Amino acid sequence: MKPTRPFHQTPVITIDGPTASGKGTVAALVAATLGFHLLDSGALYRLTALASMSYDIDPADAEALAKLVGALHITFREGCAQLDGVDVSAEIRAEEVGNRASAIAVHPEVRKALIARQRAFRKLPGLVADGRDMGTVIFPDAPLKVFLTASVEARAARRYKQLIQKGFSANMEDLLRDLRERDTRDTNRSTAPLKPAADARTLDTSGLSVDQTVEQIIGWFNEIRV
Ligand code: DC
Repeated sequence: MKPTRPFHQTPVITIDGPTASGKGTVAALVAATLGFHLLDSGALYRLTALASMSYDIDPADAEALAKLVGALHITFREGCAQLDGVDVSAEIRAEEVGNRASAIAVHPEVRKALIARQRAFRKLPGLVADGRDMGTVIFPDAPLKVFLTASVEARAARRYKQLIQKGFSANMEDLLRDLRERDTRDTNRSTAPLKPAADARTLDTSGLSVDQTVEQIIGWFNEIRV
């Protein structure tokens, strides 16, 4: 019998969800627990956004942005994101860069240019991939797909704490407004909108600790692993 999907022996756990749902922290811990590689796909959009800002590229110019993606020299080393050999891990976390990333992520040309870079992370013994379209577009054959949600208030409170800890200034009202705007844009764009894959397991983390969330995902993975 012909398989309906190409067989891929490298397991992937996809973790998708809205901004500040805790995906990044949870994905890193799940990857560390299993000894898997980690793909923070949002960092790729943020790196593209940061580069577009330094080259003064109009966020509406899809063609120029896609060309830029092709020319970017990106490396991830020991948790640091480098652009042309310069560590920009802190810069890409700024709200301004996140908002720009969300704005340029609406372009199908930009998304397409980033596909191969994301799939290249799939290596043995396995991958944990975090983003918006990991389960729907980038790794549709992933054996475990998780969709993390949390109320906008819980997410704003987490983002506030995160920003203050990193030495950035933050204002709760602005954060709530930005999160709502970004949710609307990420959910309503026509290409690869933020939505759970049909076969994703949804987990609301509003009342869960990071450890409880990680435990649940590892539990699900152990259930399906042969
Ligand atoms: O996860 P994050 O906040 O670092 O992502 C920044 C932006 O990048 C997000 O608002 C939308 C975009 N993004 C995307 O469109 N698809 C992904 N897989 C990851 C991020």
